[in-house]
Amino acid sequence: MNRVANTLISGLLLTTALSGTAWADDAKKDAVEYRQSVYQVIKGNFAPMAQVVKGEASYDADSFTLRAERVAALSKMALEGFIPETDMLSMDVKTGAKPNIWEEWDDFKAKNAALATESEKLLEVAKTGDLDKIKAQFAETGKTCKSCHDKFREK
Ligand code: HEC
Repeated sequence: MNRVANTLISGLLLTTALSGTAWADDAKKDAVEYRQSVYQVIKGNFAPMAQVVKGEASYDADSFTLRAERVAALSKMALEGFIPETDMLSMDVKTGAKPNIWEEWDDFKAKNAALATESEKLLEVAKTGDLDKIKAQFAETGKTCKSCHDKFREK
């Protein structure tokens, strides 16, 4: 009787331990997919704005402002996807995040904040409809992407 109970209990403990691990792996995978999705949507809005700035697409004030608004909002969402231990070394999920993100977290956060600040400014400038100012501020915003990718993203 005791043996049966013991077997049952250890079986239960084992199941709990295993599902605990599975959950942790799922949570990590979810976090990676979350941040990659945020960046994909950022790009999906940033690229059409780049076309306008380069003169490859015509300028429409409303849609440009809408896209600037989205990027400003999305820039505040990416950080929560960077949970610890989701760097490329400890994951079987494909990620372009370098491990130094977690070693130099304050700098990573600052670079993320720079995008938030510059995209917020871009939104303000977009509302004026002044294309010269928009172009200048778009360039400033784009620099914040590059500055973070250069240091924290795999080539
Ligand atoms: C604070 C740092 C930081 C900033 C700012 C930043 N990125 Fe990234 N970006 C990353 C990191 C890190 C990854 C890799 C994420 C991963 O694969 O886990 C990434 C990945 C991406 C990806 C690929 C997503 C995928 O599906 O794998 C795109 C596209 C992208 N960024 C676009 C942009 C654009 C456009 C901007 C600026 C408007 C920007 N990023 C600003 C850090 C940043």
